[in-house]
Amino acid sequence: MVEVEAKHILHSGIFHPVLRQWQSPNVEITVNALMYPIFISDEQEAKEPIASMPGVYRYGINHLERMLQPLVLKGLQSILLFGVSKHLEKDHIGSNADSTQNPIIQAVPLIRKWFPNLLIACDVCLCAYTVHGHCGILNEDGSINNKASIERISEIALAYAKAGAQIVAPSDMMDGRISAIKKKLATAGLMNKVAILSYAVKFASGFYGPFRDASQSAPKFGDRKCYQLPPGSNGLAARAAARDVSEGADMLIVKPGLPYLDVVRHTKDAHPEYPMFVYQVSGEYAMLYHGAQNGAINLENVLKEVLLSMRRAGADCIITYFTPLILDMLQPRS
Ligand code: PBG
Ligand code: ZN
Repeated sequence: MVEVEAKHILHSGIFHPVLRQWQSPNVEITVNALMYPIFISDEQEAKEPIASMPGVYRYGINHLERMLQPLVLKGLQSILLFGVSKHLEKDHIGSNADSTQNPIIQAVPLIRKWFPNLLIACDVCLCAYTVHGHCGILNEDGSINNKASIERISEIALAYAKAGAQIVAPSDMMDGRISAIKKKLATAGLMNKVAILSYAVKFASGFYGPFRDASQSAPKFGDRKCYQLPPGSNGLAARAAARDVSEGADMLIVKPGLPYLDVVRHTKDAHPEYPMFVYQVSGEYAMLYHGAQNGAINLENVLKEVLLSMRRAGADCIITYFTPLILDMLQPRS
């Protein structure tokens, strides 16, 4: 018989639910730690299911208030908006990203009016509005024209800010975009009224597949490996975060989430003064959804565990398509 030494007995700290909570401090899931991504279509009446993301829809403006109302009542605090262009013309500079026809430009003032306490972030990128589906403006040879790209990205960010977005979230991964956006906001007197949530550490990932279907933004040729980070690149991830911090980002995102939790921890440790966001992306959503659908896992149990893992790794806020389900899970059970 082997005797366990008293000080090595761990069970004594976890035999009661309250004891277990004390072993997991500051990682609980709260409404404040959730941001809900929403696809807004230029088709006003649309409520269009997205095949690769069951349970997620592209909403036309006319559905937004009805869709958001119950979520706000359950405590929803912040949303992240993506425009989807079904009918708007695409061109080489993404003209419709900030035209008066753009669904984001149209929706933001309405959402502000309907839900004055809801914090609105807008994704800023070109890929949903360019003919080639890339996130920047291209040179003749197909390479990125960085200077033209950040000029255009910052224009779009300013347009969303002027429409009423309190947060702009550039996801394009061009070099120097945070500075460019800051400068534009300053000239418009919005420097202190708009936060920049930088997709600072965004990897070139296979997990974005369903999203590109959802926002119809897949590149028509090539891939995004020349501007998104290589999945193994710890060093570049650290440099990208430090660079965006030095340019004035207010909050940082690591994306995708689950396969990059080591990077979340490194980034949070390197920049503890900055709110850390983790984006549980479309492929992560689909993976959990289908795993549960096929009986391999219990969705709520595993989702809770995954969210906890993100909080444990240092996430202050999780951007997740599961937000409506999580809000339900957080309601007091009667
Ligand atoms: C586009 C953008 C992408 C995502 C957010 N903004 C896709 C990409 O970069 O290819 C991914 C979100 C998701 O997969 O849920 N700039
Ligand atoms: Zn893009």
